[in-house]
Amino acid sequence: MYQKFFQIRKKNIEAVKDISFQIKKGDVVGLLGENGAGKTTLLRMISTIMQPSEGNIYIDGINIHKEPMKIKGKIGVLFGSETGLYDRLSTRENLAYFAKLHGLSKHETQTRIDYLSVRFGMKEYLDRRVGAFSKGMRQKVTIARTLIHDPEIILLDEPTTGLDITSANMFRELIHQLRKEGKTIIFSSHIMEEVKQLCQSIVMIHRGQMIYNGTTEDLYKQEESNDLNYIFMSLIVRGVHS
Ligand SMILES: Nc1ncnc2c1ncn2[C@@H]1O[C@H](COP(=O)(O)OP(=O)(O)OP(=O)(O)O)[C@@H](O)[C@H]1O
Ligand SMILES: [Mg+2]
Repeated sequence: MYQKFFQIRKKNIEAVKDISFQIKKGDVVGLLGENGAGKTTLLRMISTIMQPSEGNIYIDGINIHKEPMKIKGKIGVLFGSETGLYDRLSTRENLAYFAKLHGLSKHETQTRIDYLSVRFGMKEYLDRRVGAFSKGMRQKVTIARTLIHDPEIILLDEPTTGLDITSANMFRELIHQLRKEGKTIIFSSHIMEEVKQLCQSIVMIHRGQMIYNGTTEDLYKQEESNDLNYIFMSLIVRGVHS
């Protein structure tokens, strides 16, 4: 169980509260919630960027805030709002830079860049500077950057925001592929169809509190519907633990 307060003018803002859940290795988990629900805060804490005010997070039995270095290399993280790319560098140079930070060899770097550029249809602009890229092109490079070190745990905050239909489909295919490879994935999204297609389980939060955690199948059974949009709205209206 963990929570996060932000101190604003000495007032505690509870971004997330009493959240507690477990994720199985190899699961694809959809993180759902309205704007301001606490999704980004939650992902920041899981990625070790931010400390919970109370509580602990364990990955493979390791308390990630006590021993972050043991876990950092296993995590790939993407935050929608910040790309962290270097405008003056090309796609290839950006990816190579992040590969270096993760300690990849030249050969591994080359292999990963080749693989990811094919995966994301980025071959044509591999050697162009990212400064002039469109939002969607940048987003693809950012996703590739997240995956450069082939992480076991992948945290994606609204990964398809800004992507066109083709790129969003490429992303979905990639998630399928990563799932087959046994990766554990948590991603936040406002697109219910996407979550429906890709996730076996769901964490739903509302005003910082968890209102559902379980498999999508159980959720459909519990709510006697498989219309995720409808279920989402109805859980939010009720706003209670299920
Ligand atoms: N650095 C911060 N300082 C103060 N308050 C913050 C900070 N980051 C987030 N919050 C607050 O915490 C709450 C949860 O925000 P968070 O960004 O986690 O929501 P979200 O679910 O990601 O929303 P969105 O769908 O809009 O991205 C909000 O009330 C927000 O104002
Ligand atoms: Mg957010």
